[in-house]
Amino acid sequence: MCGIVGYVGGQASLEVVIDGLRRLEYRGYDSAGVALVTNDGLFTEKRAGKLSNLDVALADVETPPSTTGIGHTRWATHGAPTDRNAHPHLGRQGRVALVHNGIIENFAALRSKLEAAGHELESDTDTEVAAHLLEAEVAAGADLTEAMQGVCRQLEGAFTLVAVSPDAPDRVVAARRNSPLVVGLGEGENFVASDVAAFIEHTREALELGQDQVVTITRDEVEVTDFRGNPAEGKPFHIDWDIAAAEKGGYDYFMLKEIDEQPRAIADTLLGRLSETGQLQLDEMRLSDDDLRAIDKIIIIACGTAFHAGLVAKYAIEHWTRIPCEVELSSEFRYRDPIIDRDTMVIAISQSGETMDTLMALRHARGQRAKVLAISNSNGSTIPRESDAVLYTRAGPEIAVASTKAFLTQIVACYLIALYLAQVRGTKYGDEIAEIVGQLEEIPAAVTEVLASLEPVRELAREMGAARLVLFLGRHVGYPVALEGALKLKELAYIHAEGFAAGELKHGPIALVEQGTPVFVVVPPKGRGPLHDKMISSIQEVRARGARTIVLADQGDDRVLPYADQLVALPTVPTLMQPLVATVPLQVFACEMAMVKGHDVDQPRNLAKSVTVE
Ligand code: M6R
Repeated sequence: MCGIVGYVGGQASLEVVIDGLRRLEYRGYDSAGVALVTNDGLFTEKRAGKLSNLDVALADVETPPSTTGIGHTRWATHGAPTDRNAHPHLGRQGRVALVHNGIIENFAALRSKLEAAGHELESDTDTEVAAHLLEAEVAAGADLTEAMQGVCRQLEGAFTLVAVSPDAPDRVVAARRNSPLVVGLGEGENFVASDVAAFIEHTREALELGQDQVVTITRDEVEVTDFRGNPAEGKPFHIDWDIAAAEKGGYDYFMLKEIDEQPRAIADTLLGRLSETGQLQLDEMRLSDDDLRAIDKIIIIACGTAFHAGLVAKYAIEHWTRIPCEVELSSEFRYRDPIIDRDTMVIAISQSGETMDTLMALRHARGQRAKVLAISNSNGSTIPRESDAVLYTRAGPEIAVASTKAFLTQIVACYLIALYLAQVRGTKYGDEIAEIVGQLEEIPAAVTEVLASLEPVRELAREMGAARLVLFLGRHVGYPVALEGALKLKELAYIHAEGFAAGELKHGPIALVEQGTPVFVVVPPKGRGPLHDKMISSIQEVRARGARTIVLADQGDDRVLPYADQLVALPTVPTLMQPLVATVPLQVFACEMAMVKGHDVDQPRNLAKSVTVE
């Protein structure tokens, strides 16, 4: 939700900032803009639409030399995505430029106060209010850092702010509350950004900032304070992924690359988690064994695809640990007054580690003294930082808005946690755990096999470009897979798609089926007796009403053949592992469908990768 970059150093700031924005554009693409400090004051340019529009605008003007600058890509909250509402916003005299990510909740009251004092605001945004306040503090004698501290004390809500001023030409000042901000530590140059991807090509050393902190960067120094100006410290960390991981590497879209990276992502997430003696080792687990033995309930909180990963995980957690497990949308969780106490474990799943709905749910859980364990793909992000324990997925950067490799690795991470709990609580023997880990270790090869066999699925997508409704059916762990297949299709192809538990079909949804309606069916592995039989009945039911069935089933599952208009054969894996292979054809189908329709696969309309507003 909005990407922010700030730079001060020896390079041309425009280039550094624009390159950074290009890597952050997945966070929002409603508009883009830059502000540079030059010898003649501030130079700003901003345009509605994608970064390419700003590129075109910049190509038409002569940009003055500058080594200090900020930039922004927007996901609109307050005000339409227009040039006028694009960031940066300026103060009243144009002496301060500011970019913002988040929502300033008391902006209306602040705006009224400013207007009563004679300020004329040009945009509909909450951000411009902060720009005017910042400049007013500077005009009253504060330096830019003090001014930022003063403004932050007046703001409510979630914000990352980054500002420059020609009155302090060699510094960039930034602040954060509830929204992401990291510092990149270079040699003779420093950076601030929403995400390390913005500066990875310049430095791998970074500083994680805490809640309610202000950071001032110059070429050679980084100073962190709280909102009152008291000295504070960031937490240094090293970025261990390579720049190539954040590039398309010859693929047309990041999503295509990320789908192909799934075998490696799963293997990396499993790496080193089992000792030579067969003991599961989760080094990042900071909860004691006594804490884990006391847990009497698990609640998984997550949004979107991560929620679907949680739904899959519930089956494994309950089966292996015998601990009751609920899965709840983060955005609903705290509003229902959930029953939680110190013996509840809340597992927060978030690829970005910044999703505001999940963060707020997590804070509510901690407030009730629950133990919180985060599963995240982003080191240095807020959700892991605020949790009692963390298990990082090692998927590498996921840049396409549609989540793929994060989903599979989130399932793997949940399984590792379930096995760890089973080990500590003695609900599984060591050899049983080792056997399941062995099954997980075979998944990368199985996913590779699936990936190599998907040309017919792509062909199907090309042929179905005109479909207006697509249904997905599953049972047991196949049900969340159906939900995920439908979500992918909605967000990428903008088609009405729904996932259903196959048994529910006859209770209503079957009325949607018409002659030719495409219905994807995830069939449980053939060893699953009654579950398998019931699914075959469901396929017959939709087929009898004219559906075109695309059946995902085990290789050699001959019983489904008479009912499959198209068969997608999956490698035979144990039931709980099936989501890790069955999701992949659905990702590829949605991706191909979006390409057929000419959509931007990596940046679907109206969406942003990291949703940092509630
Ligand atoms: O970063 P998170 O895992 O917390 O994000 C959660 C959802 O916003 C995310 O999974 C979203 O649903 C994806 N765009 C789906 O592909």
